[in-house]
Amino acid sequence: MKSPVVTVFGATGFLGREICQALVEEGWIVRLAARQPNRVLLSGIPRDRSERVAVDIRRRPEVARALEGAAAAVNAVSLYVQSRKLRFEDVHVRGAAAIAECAREQGVDRLVHISGIGVDPQSPSAYVRARAQGEQAVREAFAGATVLRPSVLFGPGDAFVSNLVKIARLPAVPLFGRGQTRLQPAFVEDVAEAVNVALHRPDSTGRVYELGGGQVLTYREAVTAVMKELGVRRPLMPVPFVFWKLIAALLRPLPNPPLTRDQVVLMATDNIAGSEIPGFADLELEARRFDQALTMCLKSVFS
Ligand SMILES: NC(=O)c1ccc[n+]([C@@H]2O[C@H](COP(=O)([O-])OP(=O)(O)OC[C@H]3O[C@@H](n4cnc5c(N)ncnc54)[C@H](OP(=O)(O)O)[C@@H]3O)[C@@H](O)[C@H]2O)c1
Repeated sequence: MKSPVVTVFGATGFLGREICQALVEEGWIVRLAARQPNRVLLSGIPRDRSERVAVDIRRRPEVARALEGAAAAVNAVSLYVQSRKLRFEDVHVRGAAAIAECAREQGVDRLVHISGIGVDPQSPSAYVRARAQGEQAVREAFAGATVLRPSVLFGPGDAFVSNLVKIARLPAVPLFGRGQTRLQPAFVEDVAEAVNVALHRPDSTGRVYELGGGQVLTYREAVTAVMKELGVRRPLMPVPFVFWKLIAALLRPLPNPPLTRDQVVLMATDNIAGSEIPGFADLELEARRFDQALTMCLKSVFS
């Protein structure tokens, strides 16, 4: 029997790569879809189990072509910093809707849409508002879509731990506020496995899952854990959020600002899975703890 095809939008991204790996191992033919699908080498993905297709999800005919003959689709496309030409709505609302609508029109059986914990249509963050509108648009177009909302992702080659390492090397470590915002970092491979499981479980159809990792910790505790692993000691320096917002405003004219207002807003809000919403356990998965996987992540930072 021919293996089924799954189209993974955002396949070359940090999470997308792990999703492709997990799905290939499960027997899928993976169609890697991104604007530059050959940008990264994916060593664990054999050529005869994969296809690459150039797609900009803002162009509907390209989205439709990428879904031809697919049994399933995953949307792991991201945009964290918007510009005048490329807005959050283009990718997180209209792009997400185009994937869901084309998937329905083409008779794709299953769709997994990756969103994020904390979606809120009233949020002061344009990014968070767009994610909420995107989920809504996906649900309207494809009622059976499974929405996965991970907390901040970590794993080898991530942005989260790599940034904490840079910060831990400063003479004093600046905190967002007093560093009391609670996070529940999710290991990237665990989230990829959740996508794999969700595609197979009929009971995940039309449901939302919040994927928090095995450990809840404050930002202050996360920086301290990284410093401990690195064997360094630095004073922690609380910095009020208004000051961070000012820095973000000053950095705004840069083409690729290292800090945005949206990121400051995110850092002011707890990012943990809701107790009433299904999570890893409902997919019969056990999420790794941050401190368990930290050594492995740090090895990749220094390799
Ligand atoms: N990383 C985290 O901590 C985190 C936390 C919570 C939720 N999430 C969610 O997880 C998902 C994946 O995030 P990530 O961190 O893995 O993202 P990422 O590393 O930035 O990767 C983004 C992917 O999207 C593709 N892409 C961007 N714009 C596109 C477009 N217009 N058309 C087609 N493809 C496009 C990129 O490839 P090209 O540039 O070649 O197109 C790349 O493959 C997102 O939904 C994100 O919001 C991430």
